Amino acid sequence: MPCPSQSSDELVFFVNGRKVIEKNVDPEVTLLAFLRKNLRLTGTKYACGTGGCGACTVMVSKHDPVSKKTRHLSVMACLVPLCSLHGTAVTTVEGIGSISTSLHPVQERIAKSHGTQCGFCTPGMVMSMYTLLRNYPQPSEEQLMEALGGNLCRCTGYRPILESGRTFCMEPSGCQQKGTGKCCLDQKEDGSLGVKSDPSQELPGSRLFAQCSHFPRTSRKQTLCTVLTLPKNFQEPDSAQCLHFPRTPRNQTLHSAHTSQICSGLFSKEEFQPLDPTQELIFPPELLRMAENPEKQTLTFYGERITWISPGTLQDLLSLKAKYPEAPLVSGNTSLGPAMKSQGHLYPILLSPAAIPDLRLVTKSSDGLTMGACCSLAQVKDILAESISELPEEKTQTYRALLKHLRSLAGQQIRNMASLGGHVLSRHGYSDLNPILSVGNATLNLLSEEGTRQIALDGHFLAGLASADLKPGEILGSVYIPHSQKWEFVSAFRQAQCHQNALPDVNAGMRVLFREGTDIIEDLSIAYGGVGPTTISAHRSCQQLVGRHWNALMLDEACRRLLDEVSLPGSALGGKVEFKRTLMVSFLFKFYLEVLQELKRKVKLPSESTDSQHCPVIADRFLSALEDFQVTLPQGVQTYQRVDPHQPLQDPVGRPIMHLSGLKHATGEAIFCDDIPRVDKELFMALVTSTRAHARIISIDSSEVFALPGVVGVITAEDIPGTNGDDNDKLLAVDEVRCVGQVICAVVAETDVQAKRATEKIKITYEDLKPVIFTIQDAIKHNSFLCPEKKLEQGNIEEAFENVDQVVEGEVHVGGQEHFYMETQRVLVIPKTEDKELDMYVSTQDPAHVQKTVSSTLNIPSNKITCHVKRVGGGFGGKVGRPAVFGAIAAVGAVKTGRPVRLVLDREDDMLITGGRHPLFGKYKVGFMNNGRIKALDIECYINGGCTLDDSELVTEFLVLKLENAYKIRNLRFRGRACMTNLPSNTAFRGFGFPQGTLVTESCITAVAAKCGLPPEKVREKNMYKTVDKTIYKQAFSPEPLIRCWTECLDKSSFHIRRTQVQEFNRRNYWKKRGIAIIPMKFSVGFAATSYHQAAALVHIYTDGSVLVAHGGNELGQGIHTKMLQVASRELKVPMSHMHICETSTATVPNTIATAASIGADVNGRAVQNACEILLKRLEPVIKKNPEGTWRDWIETAFEQRISLSATGYFRGYKAFMDWEKQEGDPFPYYVYGAACSEVEIDCLTGAHKKIRTDIVMDACYSLNPAIDIGQIEGAFIQGMGLYTTEELHYSPEGVLYSRSPEEYKIPTVTDVPEQFHVSLLSSSQTPLTIYSSKGLGESGMFLGSSVFFAIADAVAAARRERDMAEDFTVQSPATPERVRMACADRFTDMIPRDDPKTFKPWSIPIA
Ligand SMILES: Cc1cc2nc3c(=O)[nH]c(=O)nc-3n(C[C@H](O)[C@H](O)[C@H](O)COP(=O)(O)OP(=O)(O)OC[C@H]3O[C@@H](n4cnc5c(N)ncnc54)[C@H](O)[C@@H]3O)c2cc1C
Ligand code: FES
Ligand code: FES
Repeated sequence: MPCPSQSSDELVFFVNGRKVIEKNVDPEVTLLAFLRKNLRLTGTKYACGTGGCGACTVMVSKHDPVSKKTRHLSVMACLVPLCSLHGTAVTTVEGIGSISTSLHPVQERIAKSHGTQCGFCTPGMVMSMYTLLRNYPQPSEEQLMEALGGNLCRCTGYRPILESGRTFCMEPSGCQQKGTGKCCLDQKEDGSLGVKSDPSQELPGSRLFAQCSHFPRTSRKQTLCTVLTLPKNFQEPDSAQCLHFPRTPRNQTLHSAHTSQICSGLFSKEEFQPLDPTQELIFPPELLRMAENPEKQTLTFYGERITWISPGTLQDLLSLKAKYPEAPLVSGNTSLGPAMKSQGHLYPILLSPAAIPDLRLVTKSSDGLTMGACCSLAQVKDILAESISELPEEKTQTYRALLKHLRSLAGQQIRNMASLGGHVLSRHGYSDLNPILSVGNATLNLLSEEGTRQIALDGHFLAGLASADLKPGEILGSVYIPHSQKWEFVSAFRQAQCHQNALPDVNAGMRVLFREGTDIIEDLSIAYGGVGPTTISAHRSCQQLVGRHWNALMLDEACRRLLDEVSLPGSALGGKVEFKRTLMVSFLFKFYLEVLQELKRKVKLPSESTDSQHCPVIADRFLSALEDFQVTLPQGVQTYQRVDPHQPLQDPVGRPIMHLSGLKHATGEAIFCDDIPRVDKELFMALVTSTRAHARIISIDSSEVFALPGVVGVITAEDIPGTNGDDNDKLLAVDEVRCVGQVICAVVAETDVQAKRATEKIKITYEDLKPVIFTIQDAIKHNSFLCPEKKLEQGNIEEAFENVDQVVEGEVHVGGQEHFYMETQRVLVIPKTEDKELDMYVSTQDPAHVQKTVSSTLNIPSNKITCHVKRVGGGFGGKVGRPAVFGAIAAVGAVKTGRPVRLVLDREDDMLITGGRHPLFGKYKVGFMNNGRIKALDIECYINGGCTLDDSELVTEFLVLKLENAYKIRNLRFRGRACMTNLPSNTAFRGFGFPQGTLVTESCITAVAAKCGLPPEKVREKNMYKTVDKTIYKQAFSPEPLIRCWTECLDKSSFHIRRTQVQEFNRRNYWKKRGIAIIPMKFSVGFAATSYHQAAALVHIYTDGSVLVAHGGNELGQGIHTKMLQVASRELKVPMSHMHICETSTATVPNTIATAASIGADVNGRAVQNACEILLKRLEPVIKKNPEGTWRDWIETAFEQRISLSATGYFRGYKAFMDWEKQEGDPFPYYVYGAACSEVEIDCLTGAHKKIRTDIVMDACYSLNPAIDIGQIEGAFIQGMGLYTTEELHYSPEGVLYSRSPEEYKIPTVTDVPEQFHVSLLSSSQTPLTIYSSKGLGESGMFLGSSVFFAIADAVAAARRERDMAEDFTVQSPATPERVRMACADRFTDMIPRDDPKTFKPWSIPIA
């Protein structure tokens, strides 16, 4: 039992080379909390707390006294109990390098390769890569992919991160221009070797420029060069001759030719410092001594609620286990830790076996392999790989199957932490290893004080039968896995939402033993995961098949028997019931084929020729069922227009400048909201949310809360001095709740743990109310809408439908999307002692909105409230509206208690409360001619807005305005409505309705193509805008860049050739199909109101010549601050290194507009430009008088002459309006055009897909910063791809969001990036309207992710054609493996049992 009065042992470990001695360590504290709070090492981030995102990755080094080796492991600090670290050395991002000392090459390269945007994931990425390099200084590409598989990034799309990692994998090779092996940088401008400078290009004051750290170095040696490997079939732009920005001959003007001034490569590898492994921190000698001669055998740490005991010997462990039979063994804590957190399990005693070498022993015998229970899964993987290389193939069948699953089980960090014993004994229903271990006849060696015994790791054990389980006092010592034998075959199968770092939907282990020399089954075992609470063994079916020949008849019977034995009820947890049933038999079919192939090699089968009557197993085209998709490091080329050759070298505009905070992101020095040190008397706030979807609040009982330690107060609506939100959207609920997750009240306490524990003690009684509406269909039925319908119409649609060859109607369902910004919602409110002032540090896209909301909530004027935003760890629209709510509630807490209040949402709460992208249901009716010309299109869309209006009306408007996408259709009717449901309110999200709505339009085009028997791209082309025209809302525009993007994309992707290749592939393969799609895009930028485009800036020049720029945009990772300094640098002709942006603050630039709608850099850039122009104008006389002077001379003189060195810049905004009555206007300042072509391959048996290649051509006009803009395009594309393929939200029939963690909601990982990923910015495109003719690219790439969706649909259509099924089927996004598999109907989908929906309550309900 815990005994805090006893004194704990000292916990000794090292952090970044410094010894840490903790005298009273609490066993409940994690390494992450300790680093962040106790050591103030805030580089390691909290983003999920469940081991699923990698933001908290650190390296732990341990010395093994047995092997005498030191191992370096990447781990998730959020799951590492601090107590487990005795004798280890922890390295965090701060420990490997810093800006002030020196950067580690990993840090330098990730930043300079533009691998950071918001930077919140960056320290974790850095530490994963760093650990890899500590173990393998020159890793393979496969190892790099493996190392990063557990790290999520929501901004970059991973390509630049991988690119930086690749620089460690490859030999340094210069730019290898045109394959000559010589670096083009060594050439003169005339092509000969040498360097020539042009003094005429220097600006007044240019000496300052030369010192700019953000500026790519200007010496020839250090300018950019093509560093990426061009894939074989990539078509290089005509003159992609590695043209670095200063290199094009002077006589080539900017506008001379579209393709003549193209750059590729966004960073210069030559600039990177080499990796020198000898410079790394050594393992502390003191720890070496401790490991070799431990002073004390058993360590005990007493906490308030838990005691941690770490025995030094096996005997001690067994005695302790006998004494405390209920005490769990904490091995990797990856199962126990999350369970204790989410299920509230509390074990008073925890036993740690970490110090016992006996439990990590590995023994290889002549008949098998015995691995200690404490071997980590990463070690198991290595041991298996070693055994496979040593033993004959027939003996390693089980090992190969295990190894296959170990490659995709979780991420590297979890595999480093999780133990074999912990895995086996967790008996998770989804376990990837238990099904294989069980069919492979593994046994468990159990140890206790009584002695040892063996039990089988079989179905009984996995089912938890007491007779087959561990007895009290027993522990698992090791796992024995026998070799497979001759005539025995073992395989493993797994299908998850995505390839890496995703729990499986279904997995299986299958083994068959044949009577020697025959195809007669002697023994058969099949076990499934994911189809029940634990691994399910199909023992009965297998028994019944013994003695049968391995042929199609057997397969058929086996499928039927399995489906009967392993029955999955319609209401099964996790849903996807029909998919799971289908996978069970599909896996069996794969196994059948695999074994048949092997048997064919070994024995002459008599029944071959008769097989085809049941399943076509012999012909080559059916063997595609056997191939698994492999993961490869993506390749890609990014091309963009080089700057005007006459542009001074020092002028940064148009150049791929690194993100201003890039290096700080990479070293962990970038401060995010929750990295701000704890302030004096600070309290922590935790929220209490509704558990009912629609109910009256009868009472809120907080009486128990105040008895808890640390609790200071409970904040309810009654504490609000001013306005409690508005009638329909209250900050804190009063009387009634309208969704699960609505905030009711909050607790403030001394610590976060105390506040969170206290929320569990608040008792709320409800009385349920009716109606309860979750789905769009129910909302339509109940006429439950948030705002009036938005409608646009042109031509005569009814008449047009009368005069067409064909009419098609269809439905499209698009699921919602969680923002999944890596930094959850956070705010720190500091009340000041004077004048009721408040300082607020908020992670928001709209500080002015926070300020305004807090002002009305507290009933104090805005001038007393200052909101500061240093940087935001990703927003994507999710931090436009909601931060004001959290800011206001926290501010009420601060005012009520008179103390600073910090509110940091857990990932779970963030996902539950904040809403996301609106799910959409669309209906279309389209009339067209047989040649594909569309004459009439009627689209009606409904979005699920949730319980409050939020941005739903605006989203509906944008959706309707943008529905036409790139198409000119004479007769149109678009209607949109926002449904009111009892779900958390949905809100702004990148693209604002466009990505959902336009999927309806494009689906409709695809349907037309299918009906006309034409390729979809032909129908797209036929109906596209071609000449200067007007949109449905009568805004004039020229589609020329659209056509250019489309044509270039067709060309660069070699679309037509590849279309033929895809067809040929599909002809040759039955179970794998490829699909290809090209999608055009016309995306309108900005808000439909002029006032929303206004922006202001404040520029100060100090007397030392340094410049401080402030503007109204917020740094969300999109590089707005970098772009603003590029603008200021060009305008003032001062290098960026002499400029600074401190933060966005309501005190410096007031009344700002949200940084959203892709317009931030445009409008704020104009304001910054304006301020700089004013300042330059003032300085003009001074400069004229002393033209040879330096910048500093001029500033000093100006000061002496009393010239103001501070100016406000202002931009009044682009003209934009929309008259919904007249259905016309000029709602958008301009359009961004683009096109994307994607090719995929699907596995018809599992629904999995791999992305083969994507080509994007985007019209960025004159990009302010091509690295940032390409980063935005790629990041948005991958986020869009997630929306359309893997990101799926699940709600219970009671309206509870299930998907509240990275395990339950799958955003793309590194393995989801297309194998070839090329992005080109359209050259020589112009828009006179914007700053330096640039375009805002924040959102548009999102929709281009739909090219992957349509490529998948294309592949599915090919499968259905071959199976003689209708090609047009209801389109549902995301195209998850479940949907793809079920759309590729075949004999296996036909054979599964289907439940009558009326007979069961499903686990989840569709809400779109
Ligand atoms: C983010 C994440 C992703 C994951 N993805 C996957 C996946 O894709 N596929 C998959 O199969 N699994 C996955 N897992 C689960 C993971 O495999 C298990 O959590 C892990 O293997 C458990 O091992 P552990 O050492 O951490 O166990 P712990 O959490 O330390 O212990 C688990 C249980 O085992 C008991 N135990 C441990 N060792 C012994 C012993 N020697 N004797 C007696 N009892 C013992 C403990 O008492 C405890 O009850 C994932 C987990 C996480 C956190
Ligand atoms: S915060 Fe630790 S893995 Fe996400
Ligand atoms: S840069 Fe990776 S999450 Fe923002």
